[in-house]
Amino acid sequence: MIKFDRVYFQYDNLPVLKNIDLEIVEGELIVLLGLNGSGKTSLFKMINGLLKPSSGKVFVDGMDTKEEALLWEIRKKVGMIFQNPESQIVGTTVEEDIAFGMENIGVPRDEMIGRVDQVLNFVKMSELKHVEPHRLSGGQKQLLCIASTLAMHPKYMVMDEPTSMIDPISRENILKTIVDLHRLGKTVLFSTHILDEIVIAPRVIYLRNGKIVFDGSPIEVINSVREEFGTSDFIEFQSDLCRRGIIDHFMDVEKLSERLVDLCQSSLKK
Ligand SMILES: Nc1ncnc2c1ncn2[C@@H]1O[C@H](COP(=O)(O)OP(=O)(O)OP(=O)(O)O)[C@@H](O)[C@H]1O
Ligand SMILES: [Mg+2]
Repeated sequence: MIKFDRVYFQYDNLPVLKNIDLEIVEGELIVLLGLNGSGKTSLFKMINGLLKPSSGKVFVDGMDTKEEALLWEIRKKVGMIFQNPESQIVGTTVEEDIAFGMENIGVPRDEMIGRVDQVLNFVKMSELKHVEPHRLSGGQKQLLCIASTLAMHPKYMVMDEPTSMIDPISRENILKTIVDLHRLGKTVLFSTHILDEIVIAPRVIYLRNGKIVFDGSPIEVINSVREEFGTSDFIEFQSDLCRRGIIDHFMDVEKLSERLVDLCQSSLKK
């Protein structure tokens, strides 16, 4: 479990996180929604001790992030992926980049070889194993960061706006990969300022000016966010289907169209 216990955080005199109480249990898929400057990156950096609370505590599986001696163990459990993939890629080939993190945590060589293939297969980039990372597209670079982190077998995957610097098609691909990571058994947190992206997660945490103003399902969050975010046709369409009792939760485009096709087919059979 990841637990925030009355966490406040400030940069110099600027309050950034205010009274954050939060519990994240194993196996959850959570989206942290917030506009620019709301404190998403700061909140995520608290989880692996890159930032420490000004007051209050953060625990990862019972380990206090303020205890320097526990940081190594905490960071092995928490894989972090940041907005800009460029800043995280270190290898001169895709394969080397994936190996690098594993070397750091002492994964034996034989084991490393197998894991490289597994994670490349997971992100569907096996044929790019020997490619130099600078030749990859933005979306592929982000997938490489996911693969390199996954190869270290973290329990938690924390992704800070993983879709914000890439094109819309790659964005879909990253969102699918997030769902796949969750299916794989990882506890996944990702942040976004794009409202449509909340549909892939059953739990939305909405951060406004450093405060959690909502914690619940995507359907429920919509009423709280309309004022600040506006809305989108995609979200309004799903809200309407929910009001009519046609679906009972929001879903991604693919699942939604499958659901609608199923409904049409079963009504034709009647
Ligand atoms: N290193 C820093 N020094 C001082 N203030 C900072 C620093 N980093 C962030 N801030 C401020 O802290 C607040 C929260 O920033 P944070 O980066 O956590 O928000 P965010 O939701 O991730 O924003 P974005 O959408 O821009 O990534 C903002 O007001 C920001 O200007
Ligand atoms: Mg940020």
